[in-house]
Amino acid sequence: MRIAHCSDLHLLSLEGAKVLDFANKRWIGGLNLLTNRGRHHQSEIFEAMTDDINRVGVDHILVTGDVTNLALDEEFRFARELFGRLTLGPEQVTVIPGNHDTYVQAGATYFAKHFGEYFQSDSGSPLPEGESWPCVRTRGPVAIFGLSTSLKTPWFTAYGVIGDEQLERLRTALLDERFAQSLRLVAIHHSPAEPRARSKVRGLRDRSKLYKVLEETGAELILHGHEHLDLSASLPGRGEPVPVRGIQSGTYDSGSGSLHKRARYRIYDVRASASPEGRAQVVSEELRVWDPESRSFVEDNSFEQGEVASVGA
Ligand SMILES: [Fe+2]
Ligand SMILES: [Fe+2]
Repeated sequence: MRIAHCSDLHLLSLEGAKVLDFANKRWIGGLNLLTNRGRHHQSEIFEAMTDDINRVGVDHILVTGDVTNLALDEEFRFARELFGRLTLGPEQVTVIPGNHDTYVQAGATYFAKHFGEYFQSDSGSPLPEGESWPCVRTRGPVAIFGLSTSLKTPWFTAYGVIGDEQLERLRTALLDERFAQSLRLVAIHHSPAEPRARSKVRGLRDRSKLYKVLEETGAELILHGHEHLDLSASLPGRGEPVPVRGIQSGTYDSGSGSLHKRARYRIYDVRASASPEGRAQVVSEELRVWDPESRSFVEDNSFEQGEVASVGA
């Protein structure tokens, strides 16, 4: 099964945004948009990505948050429309929220209104009735556990919190026997790996509680966004370490020509184990990077992972 990971689309449409919408915390984000973000995050790049994904063919797409910039109803509507370009529908596309999607209180409501189908847990998932997070979706050999770390934070901050109750639900779900042969993929917007997760302003506040859960349950892969970087780390699991991977924004082009500062997405090929007791695992991966010359995405596996291109969160 081929699963694509992209993140931090920051899709921008100010059409329909009323002056009143900026009358609170949003003015900071609005200012940011006018100065920087709007210039470098281009929805046209996401359109090219959807074309590329449709063309190369994947079985599932995971988007780890920051779909919007200011969590405006209009932005979510615009983003949802662009997601409609994908051949795969909401059943085969999982979207979790980022801090920008809950920039203000109403963000969570708008996110659910426009993207509710994209984080709908499977019926019979091991979650209590009425709980949305983590969303639990089994697709072929992969079991996805999508967390929400996003909450309205004080001005100038962008940190995330999972919360004790959600962590407990995650623990229960990860230990569930029905996922014994699956590759258990935890999707989270904020990077759980230090040193970045330690940041008081933009880190993951309750990361040590997550570490405890992972040591008890294990997991096979954690995918995150938020840092706008290709990152690779690992966390202690149950026996095996848990690989943690971040990715550059899916709509970014610095205009500098630097390969590292361009939009990308990564495809993981996951195969079930041949042995009945074994677990599914990632057998190969492919990175596809925005090429401003051809205005399309091209395969580029020469890219070295590392902390190379920070452009906000
Ligand atoms: Fe973020
Ligand atoms: Fe972001």
